[in-house]
Amino acid sequence: MKKGLFITFEGADGSGKTTQLNLVKSFLEQQNYDVVVTREPGALEFGRKIREILLHGKEVICDNAEMFLFLADRAQHIESLIKPSISAGKIVLCDRHVDSTIAYQGYGRGQNIELLKSLNKIAVNSIVPDLTLLFDVSTEISFQRLGNEKDRMESAGIGFHKKVAEGYLQLQKSEPERIKLINANNSIETVYNDTKRVILNLLQERQGE
Ligand code: TYD
Repeated sequence: MKKGLFITFEGADGSGKTTQLNLVKSFLEQQNYDVVVTREPGALEFGRKIREILLHGKEVICDNAEMFLFLADRAQHIESLIKPSISAGKIVLCDRHVDSTIAYQGYGRGQNIELLKSLNKIAVNSIVPDLTLLFDVSTEISFQRLGNEKDRMESAGIGFHKKVAEGYLQLQKSEPERIKLINANNSIETVYNDTKRVILNLLQERQGE
């Protein structure tokens, strides 16, 4: 069976990861790779409703409900889109995935990290990213980039977002093989050069297999 690649893009709101994801997509397509771009939460019809509740709902959402909604979105996303795309030999670029739940619901909201890891395992059904790019940006810079138009998660305050950023760094330290750190305080061009270098390494490794 052909096997594609699964690459996830992680980092704070305002880290510039989505811009980088789009640059990587264009680059890979120029090289004739078959690329699928997706995101969490809300890539599919099912998840779009969840995304609306999570990011723009007016109701107060308790931490447990928030956690289960992100996980439900992920479980459906894996089965309906990510798994079939990888099996078809495509390169899947996903804007946020399992590490967002550990960083935001775990380090940010204070949910039990080991429990979240177990729940993530159920949601992903054995699919693990081949590579995760972590765009690390100072919370001051990311807040400046976000401006005043913030969604429910972005409005959680600077203290929350500092904990999220710290959580991401902890995750990177615990899984340095999978999670590659990119300094996202730099210009788009510099960040892209760093990102491309990591992607090229992965493609080369894959060719050598
Ligand atoms: P989104 O607009 O997609 O943000 P971004 O463009 O920065 O990726 O909003 C997703 C928000 O949901 C973001 O604040 C991170 C948060 N989130 C979690 O808290 N847990 C999760 O598991 C995921 C996937 C996202």
